[in-house]
Formats: sequence, structure tokens, C-alpha cells
Amino acid sequence: MAIDAEAGPVAGPVAIISAVHEELRALLPELRDPARVRLAGREFHSGQIHGHPVVLVLSGIGKVAAATTAALLIHAFKASALVFTGVAGGLKHGVRVGDVVVAQRLLQHDMDASPLFPRFEVPLTGRALFEADVALVEALAGAAQRCLGRAEALIGAARLAGFGIERAVLHQGLVISGDRFVASEVHSSELRAALPQALAVEMEGAAVAQVCADFGTRFAVLRTISDRADDSAHVDFQRFIAEVASAYTHAIIDDWLRSSAQL
Ligand code: ADE
Repeated sequence: MAIDAEAGPVAGPVAIISAVHEELRALLPELRDPARVRLAGREFHSGQIHGHPVVLVLSGIGKVAAATTAALLIHAFKASALVFTGVAGGLKHGVRVGDVVVAQRLLQHDMDASPLFPRFEVPLTGRALFEADVALVEALAGAAQRCLGRAEALIGAARLAGFGIERAVLHQGLVISGDRFVASEVHSSELRAALPQALAVEMEGAAVAQVCADFGTRFAVLRTISDRADDSAHVDFQRFIAEVASAYTHAIIDDWLRSSAQL
């Protein structure tokens, strides 16, 4: 006899997954009543932020690291929703360094089991696109919009100017993920040609999306654009995360949790 181990809907903590240390480090001081659990080489930090039960964790980089983290958060920590934060390379025209993207849907750009299945389709699921939770997207987009409106106060005018950021914009739409840092005009042009709607490229979001689809868990992906996925994508990358992206993420997550009565 098969036993169905799926627990059904739970009102567990909201998980906030960071791709890089700097972002997690910016959020940790906000945590009230912190408790730490080590599992599968990761430290999971539980507590509350603005009265909401949360669990914070560093996923590591790439789709497998993100999928492992997402599955643990849902199964071991009973997370009711997952929010992934990090940086991404801008792909579509007009998606610039310093902009913020909230994914409405995600796709794995390196998934290709053709000719057995259409390119990009996750075999045996019948789908290539995975939709983020509409209410979470809306709430995060609202928080991002408010934070971008005070970018100068958050980051500093000189620092923004140093990265060539004039007026940061919020975008919502398709984000694509793959196990490759896209750092050439040739590769980013190929992706633009194959997926013209793609706003940005990163390395984890669509993996989290697929795991959340398996479990029926709500999720969202929030990304600051650190580069244009071209030949200079690696230049200033770490400095951008430390000086801009982690401040944005901190401000947006803080605003979102503070302004949400219910998650
Ligand atoms: N994350 C930030 N920039 C990226 C890029 N150019 N490619 C993949 N992931 C990224």
C-alpha cells in the first residue's frame, strides 16, 4: 500500500532564500528570537521579522543548490511560501543595471530534451513555464517600487552614479535560469533570440519554481540587475552585490514584511 506523505497546506514560516552571503548578512540582524539549524551543509535561521515567522537561508549558486534548499524548506521547515532574492543579468532592451525584476513566470533556458520533448519543456511535466504566486508578486512589486523611489537615500547618490544608475525601474515578467553565468554578448544574444520575452537571466529561480510546483507551494523571485549578461558582466559584480543589491534586498524584504498583515 502506498502512503501519501504529502502534508497538504500548512501555515508555516515564510522562507527567504539568498543566493549570496551579503544578502543574508543584511537580513540576519532583523531576525527576532533567532534559532539556527544545520542541515545538508546549510544553516537555516528561524525567527520573526515584523511579527511574521520566517526562515532565512543561503542556497548557494545554481539550480541543484536552489532545488535542494527549496525542498528542505518545504519538507523539513514546513515553509508556506518561498521568496528567492539575488542578482540577475539584464537581457531585454531597457532592463538596466540597478533595476529590479520581480518574476511573474520562470523557465530553465538550459533545459533541452529535444527531439523527445520541445526545447525548454521540463520532461514529463508538459510545461516550460512556471508561474509565481500572483499575490506575492504584487506585494513584492509594491515594496520594490517604494524602495526604488528612495534609492538615493538607501544607496547614496555618488554610489549610484558610480555604477551608472540614473533612474532605477521595476520590471515584471519572464525570468530565465540556467547553470551558467552568462558573460558574453554572443550568449546573451542567443538567449534574446530564443526567448525574446525574457527580462533577465540568473541561475536558481526556475529550479525553485519547479520544486514549488511539485509541492504546491507559493513562491516569488526578486532580482536586482547587476550586469547586462555581456562581456563585462563580471566587472564590478562583487562590489555591486555588496554596495547596491544587498541594500535593495534588505529594504524591499523589510518593507514587504512590515506592510503585510498576512503573508
Ligand atoms: N546573475 C547575475 N548576473 C548573471 C548573469 N550574467 N548570468 C547568470 N546569472 C547571473
